[in-house]
Amino acid sequence: MKFGYFDDAAKEYVITTPKTPLPWINYLGTNDFFSLISNTAGGYSFYKDAKLLRLTRFRYNNVPGDSNGKYYYIKDGNTVWNPGWMPTKTDLDSYECRHGIGYSKWNSSKNGVSASVLAFVPTDDTCEINQLKLTNNTDSVKELKLFSYVEWCLWNAADDMQNFQRNFSTGEVEVIDSTIYHKTEYRERRNHYAIFTVNTKIDGFDTQRENFLGAYRDNHDPEVVFDKGACTGSIAHGWSPVAVHEISVKLEPGETKSYVFLLGYCENPDNDKWESKNVVNKKPAKALITKYQTDADVDKAFDKLKTYWDNLLSIYTLESSNDKVNRMVNIWNQYQCMVTFNMSRSASYYESGIGRGMGFRDSNQDLLGFVHLIPERARERIIDIASTQFENGSAYHQYQPLTKRGNSDIGSGFNDDPLWLIAGTSAYVRETGDVSILKEIVPYDNDMSVATTLMEHLKRSFDFTVNNKGPHKLPLIGRADWNDCLNLNCFSEHPGESFQCFGPSEGPVAESVFIAGMFVKYGEEYAQLAELLGDTAEAERARKEVKIMYDTVLEAGWDGDWFVRAYDAYSNKIGSKECEEGKIFIESNGFCSLAGIGVKEGLAEKALDSVKKYLDCKYGVMILQPAYTVYHLELGEISSYPPGYKENAGIFCHNNPWVSIAETVIGRGDRAFEIYKKTCPAYTEEISEIHKTEPYVYCQMVAGNDAYIPGEGKNSWLTGTAAWTFVNISQYILGVYPTHKGLSVDPCVPSDFGDFKVTRKFRGASYEISVKTNGSQKGVKKLIVDGQEVEGTVIPFVEGKKNYKVEVVM
Ligand code: GLC
Ligand code: GLC
Repeated sequence: MKFGYFDDAAKEYVITTPKTPLPWINYLGTNDFFSLISNTAGGYSFYKDAKLLRLTRFRYNNVPGDSNGKYYYIKDGNTVWNPGWMPTKTDLDSYECRHGIGYSKWNSSKNGVSASVLAFVPTDDTCEINQLKLTNNTDSVKELKLFSYVEWCLWNAADDMQNFQRNFSTGEVEVIDSTIYHKTEYRERRNHYAIFTVNTKIDGFDTQRENFLGAYRDNHDPEVVFDKGACTGSIAHGWSPVAVHEISVKLEPGETKSYVFLLGYCENPDNDKWESKNVVNKKPAKALITKYQTDADVDKAFDKLKTYWDNLLSIYTLESSNDKVNRMVNIWNQYQCMVTFNMSRSASYYESGIGRGMGFRDSNQDLLGFVHLIPERARERIIDIASTQFENGSAYHQYQPLTKRGNSDIGSGFNDDPLWLIAGTSAYVRETGDVSILKEIVPYDNDMSVATTLMEHLKRSFDFTVNNKGPHKLPLIGRADWNDCLNLNCFSEHPGESFQCFGPSEGPVAESVFIAGMFVKYGEEYAQLAELLGDTAEAERARKEVKIMYDTVLEAGWDGDWFVRAYDAYSNKIGSKECEEGKIFIESNGFCSLAGIGVKEGLAEKALDSVKKYLDCKYGVMILQPAYTVYHLELGEISSYPPGYKENAGIFCHNNPWVSIAETVIGRGDRAFEIYKKTCPAYTEEISEIHKTEPYVYCQMVAGNDAYIPGEGKNSWLTGTAAWTFVNISQYILGVYPTHKGLSVDPCVPSDFGDFKVTRKFRGASYEISVKTNGSQKGVKKLIVDGQEVEGTVIPFVEGKKNYKVEVVM
């Protein structure tokens, strides 16, 4: 069952009922100012950091689930309604929410009045614009009241939801004309305030929440709107500051009136904070307000946003006979890559924005799907991430985006982390050809006195694995590898202990076959970077180490029909036929195979057949089977989840593309695509009632076969799935892969995929690539570049050449 449809021409998903199975959200903002916004206008806004600089208040896990946002109440006689349906939940005569790329739009109507709202964050200002238009579709005059409503968050979102003994006394506002200034804590250490304003004269306002809502009432039936019909002019002193505008609207038959509301973040220099005693300097606010006064101003900013995205989305485009793949590749998958790059795992409807900062491993992987869009930002991110690495090559697992410093609460010891830095850097250099990044001087743990080149950082990443091997000569796992919940050194016995932080960060025994797979894949990429710098000796040394690891995996990491997952702290196998539960895992099989381990020996094929046989289900490839049914002290969090959920035999969408990529490595296009389809939102849209999460983006986890409701998705938007599926479809299935020497085209598609075209902007040139598949799954028979046949699959890169016309015959 569907709750809407894709409008590909507009690059929008159109939601046709507010009663979606879960809130379906969108992200506004591209650089510093962001908003989460649901199909019922719920959500919140923040500047740069969802924890420390949150502008509006949201109540996670509240009832109803999505109950704070930017709301507009329309009072028409005795009827009160909202264009986004929430929070009054008044039945609407029509409702439509269009989530677009960086904006959301509503078109709703009730009793002959229609309302449209356009919400977006302009590309170059720190504000969200809401343009609200009201139209009278009846034959008689309509006299309406319009009320706006946002509830301020007292900046630090964590403190805001727990430190009430202080917070109930700190709230402060100013109201000048139609602008409400939220200035809590500005008198002391803050140099920023927020505004909520509208481009018309108002008839009233409220800034004290209880004055607006009334005692024992909530935002679904505010006293001011329902009973009093007029605001009280309250000025918040402590308690909970809000911003409410009251506007009388008279509409002649057929008339439309338009209002521009603006929620903004403003900063002043420390020495210029005040206009006079306790009166904030309003210069930055006035500049913002002046800039967005008219519909024409809004149109201009909105056009700019559209152009911004059209340009980005023109970097990789696909034309094929498969509309679902076209729309994922051309629109939604790349869009989600941008959002995960910006948000990491901080703020979604499942990540509360107060927990994790930027993950070392997560951010490096997010880069893989983002680097082609804005390489300069990827470059900056790589340097930021590398700056939190330790001198011995290990790394802080997370860092805070605002301070860019490593997060000592979680610390280090996740032994896959260092290798992801090689993955991210290699992707950047292959995309851009910018070798200079390798020579950048980058600190360790933010300490410039011990800084070295980025290449030296990568060397230490590589050597961290070389120097930290266990009894089988496989890499030590530490606190965990990619699977945060495989905690083999933790042995936690008490509730509340963090599985990721409890116990020693180093264990001298437990080993990861997954990290071994990573080492083989990214060790080779490291060797290539060394070659680029002319260091053939280092490349040779690296390849020797890679060869040793390859052989070790075949020796100690092969179980007969698939790759072992790990060895625990007693050196017992995990993910082996010897185990009672957790006999086979996805990660080692996917990653070792995609790294090429066992391909020539025929073992990769065997492993992938086993994955299909034991881990495949209707909704994707499960992380492991059989699920753990009891808690294992020696395995940690993985066995803490009920069977079928999360890391205990759920379908982790993130590592499904690894298996799909591995299938392309051995040339099985049909199977690679079958796996791609299973978790692909454009396909799961059909079962939205089961899947529940947004049908235009990936979610982190889908419940596996052992779960109560298999196929149920959770944790949408902020997942490494976005980047990895984009890498999979664009670079492996469609096969347009950036190498150091130029773009390579070597597709691996299902036999009925048909011919297709890819356009790609790469290192300043445009490529028009036409592929004739001839029903083949893999294998390029002919590569013709501008009429000239070329050997192999790489289009030779010619400096300065602007256009390439490429024909590929399979
Ligand atoms: C989450 C984490 C990621 C981890 C994965 C598997 O997605 O953000 O770092 O690899 O879970 O545990
Ligand atoms: C990842 C995992 C989750 C785990 C968390 C710890 O998000 O998906 O299960 O609890 O990491 O950081």
